[in-house]
Amino acid sequence: MTLDLTKITQQLGKGFSLEYHPELASTNDRALELARAGASHGTVVVTDFQTAGRGRRGAVWSAPAGSSALFSVLLRPAVPIPTHHLAILSGVGAVEGLQTLGISAKIKWPNDVMVEDRKVAGILIETTGDAVVIGCGINCTVPEEAFPAEIRQRAGSLHTLTDTTIQREAVLAAVLTGFCEALSRVEAGGIIKVLYAWNSANWLSRRKVRVSGPMGVVEGDGLFLDGRKLIFHVFKDCGVVPMPLSSAVEAR
Ligand code: BTN
Repeated sequence: MTLDLTKITQQLGKGFSLEYHPELASTNDRALELARAGASHGTVVVTDFQTAGRGRRGAVWSAPAGSSALFSVLLRPAVPIPTHHLAILSGVGAVEGLQTLGISAKIKWPNDVMVEDRKVAGILIETTGDAVVIGCGINCTVPEEAFPAEIRQRAGSLHTLTDTTIQREAVLAAVLTGFCEALSRVEAGGIIKVLYAWNSANWLSRRKVRVSGPMGVVEGDGLFLDGRKLIFHVFKDCGVVPMPLSSAVEAR
């Protein structure tokens, strides 16, 4: 089934302009191209299938045609926003967007979206000049066997993990709206405006973690984001160990 663009537009507020392709190499690539050509804030590239979808750290992001919400939104923030803040606000936007559909999701640092301990969505943020592209792939009806064997135990799809009827158009519109609402809060009041929401949805708050930073590795029993200093605090024995946000974080 191809996406119904009318349904998406009906569920979105004003200020978005949708560009749809039945098939595309990568919505992020196209959104970056549009950004460089001067496209405006709120331009959204949507597709049913990517032939060269990209994940973080050079990973491939693939999904069977029509099984996912695949889109990239071009934002031109009113104030410069550091990369880590973009990661934080996009995680909050995705989770809050899904919550409006009755889906309870968590964020695994930096911004993997988790439902029932499975990754259901990934976010890739890229910039060019003053433009930010937030690309998002949300597994809606991806069959389990379509996930690569090495991630099959950790990945999941909304339709198998939730009791809700999943409509890709509604998922896409809700998460897109979530991104823009989270951005507005940060533009108006700084990153502090979304930190409580981030920590409330933090999937790693009580999980065993390994955090590797420039000063070494800390193994702890959870972490949270410190709103004042913008660092991690890793729970360790009876105290907390501060670690920079640039650390590599993994569940152990
Ligand atoms: C991750 O590694 O978790 C991030 C995955 C991001 C995938 C999305 S799908 C839509 C957009 N276009 C891409 O090429 N990548 C992002």
